[in-house]
Amino acid sequence: MNKPGPVVEITGTGRYLPQRILTNADLERMVDTDEDWIVERTGIRERRIADDDMCAAEMGARAAREAMREAGVEPGEVDLIVLSTATPDRWLPATACDMQALLGADNAMAFDLGAACAGWLYGLSMAEGYIGAGRAETALVVATEKMSAIVDWTDRQTCVLFGDGAGAAIVRASSGERGILSSYHRSNGKLGDLLYRPGGGARFPMDTGVLERRDHLVKMAGQEVFKNAVRSMSEAADLALQQAGLRWENVELLVPHQANLRIIRATAKHVGIPMDRVFVNVDRYGNMSSATIPVALDEAKEQGRLAPDMNILSVAFGAGLAWGAIAMRW
Ligand code: ACO
Repeated sequence: MNKPGPVVEITGTGRYLPQRILTNADLERMVDTDEDWIVERTGIRERRIADDDMCAAEMGARAAREAMREAGVEPGEVDLIVLSTATPDRWLPATACDMQALLGADNAMAFDLGAACAGWLYGLSMAEGYIGAGRAETALVVATEKMSAIVDWTDRQTCVLFGDGAGAAIVRASSGERGILSSYHRSNGKLGDLLYRPGGGARFPMDTGVLERRDHLVKMAGQEVFKNAVRSMSEAADLALQQAGLRWENVELLVPHQANLRIIRATAKHVGIPMDRVFVNVDRYGNMSSATIPVALDEAKEQGRLAPDMNILSVAFGAGLAWGAIAMRW
């Protein structure tokens, strides 16, 4: 629910992107695809791929250290770590705890959050709730995704879409008028099979059948996901804006989940915001699931597209289906 003024604000952001670049030309050599098709249907030109020995916790820790540095926060000051990932390093313990150990954030509670591509925005709302309730002071909200580990590299419909990366933010009580103005989140579990990894969990434990059917890897009904993404993101963006008491003409930057340029364009058109006020980097990184928004915020800031007191709106959508939007005064 929403309140008169912001309860929390982001005081530092960070990102980690693996150095290795996988281009569309590289993909042409791996599956039956072509550069023009990928660019026309998705807007993606290249994506980053983590090395085999790089794990989600380490990527998250690198992004988190940058965010802590900018916020002037020492690891021991963090008392809440929310880590969003669809690619945990192992089933037990939480990747958040592995990352906590890497950071030496010994005074925090740490847990993973599973809301797929919408996970970082969900995490930001959780941090707002904990801090608003007086149960935490300094939250670290991280999204870290090694999508290359769960993508089926023989499926041309999905393997061209995803990339690896991590983003992070430090969230603290708002010192004034800046911070989260509203948030709106929803999910629809009835549509869970539009985008999923069927096997390898408790329902269909890993066995040779799962491996043979490649059921441990991502499956997706692309067109259905596309339609739901545009509809849900447009609705969530409009509602979060209304709750914040803002109109689209007051929004200086829309920072959407970067899944596909066509989804971003269709959503922007639907809500009526021109593309010069929409942040886009999907061309360089592909879909890094929940890491796209914190990475985009960090880059937008670095490029001078985010300045204090700007009204911004972030909106995300992903497997679950789960989606949401957050309006902020930066
Ligand atoms: N290269 C060449 N051809 C391809 C490729 C490829 N990589 N992938 C599919 N095709 C072919 C199909 O086989 C099909 O061929 P056919 O007509 O001979 O059967 C043709 O291209 C058209 O396929 P469609 O699936 O209809 O193509 P569409 O325009 O829907 O684009 C895409 C596919 C890009 C997956 C689109 O549906 C999409 O972006 N969906 C959203 C998926 C998404 O972003 N998921 C991410 C997770 S959720 C989120 O983050 C929002």
